[in-house]
Amino acid sequence: MRHPLVMGNWKLKGSTHMVSELIAGLRNALSRVDGCGVAIAPPVMYLDQARHALAGSCIALGAQNVDINLSGAFTGEISANMLRDVGAQYIIIGHSERRTYHKETDRAISEKFAVLKEAGLIPVLCIGETEAENEEGKTEEVCARQIDAVIKTLGAPAMKGAVIAYEPVWAIGTGKSATPAQAQAVHKFIRDHIAKHDTAIAAEVIIQYGGSVNDKNATELFAQPDIDGALVGGASLKADAFAAIVKAASAAKKS
Ligand code: 13P
Repeated sequence: MRHPLVMGNWKLKGSTHMVSELIAGLRNALSRVDGCGVAIAPPVMYLDQARHALAGSCIALGAQNVDINLSGAFTGEISANMLRDVGAQYIIIGHSERRTYHKETDRAISEKFAVLKEAGLIPVLCIGETEAENEEGKTEEVCARQIDAVIKTLGAPAMKGAVIAYEPVWAIGTGKSATPAQAQAVHKFIRDHIAKHDTAIAAEVIIQYGGSVNDKNATELFAQPDIDGALVGGASLKADAFAAIVKAASAAKKS
């Protein structure tokens, strides 16, 4: 039986002070969580600090990117083994900000997916359409293409144990979340698409929603049958708001 996962993507935000304050606040607010995974992905600079601050808590550590290479002359990059070495488990790949600003292709993202699986880490594969693609009715086509890039190179079994985050680009950081019904329709499409390859893996794969999730809209989103938690940006930087989102996910799947 799959369970929801609420993960905070801190993006390029933080300082040593903020990391210790925010994690202390999260530990306080989330001393116990049932039926829901929780993770945070601080900037890579602060992973080791965060690992120590999270020790003994129910909050897992994640990261926001990985390189396709394991070692060598690749200035500025971070490998999957390094992430594992500092205790990161959930690694975001294919975020629209990286696709846009760093020109990451579907092919490069599928290579990242492969190195993470090889290292025993959990890929959190972000997919989603832009506003223009949405208006042109291409949402399903884009999501299918982004998932197929992984399935065609690695096979459907690679999706076992992975996480997909459906993040419509037009909803990220805009305050304009997809409606629960809109998101549910795309989540169902994604699950059905994977089911064409493997029904058991499709039934188990966690599909998070991301894009302007907050403590006000979380409950309604999580009430949808195919929405398994969220990848949260802005609201993950406030302990109370993030804890409320986690509690909404935990409550939704108990009922
Ligand atoms: P916001 O929650 O700030 O819209 O960001 C979503 C996101 O990009 C998470 O990866």
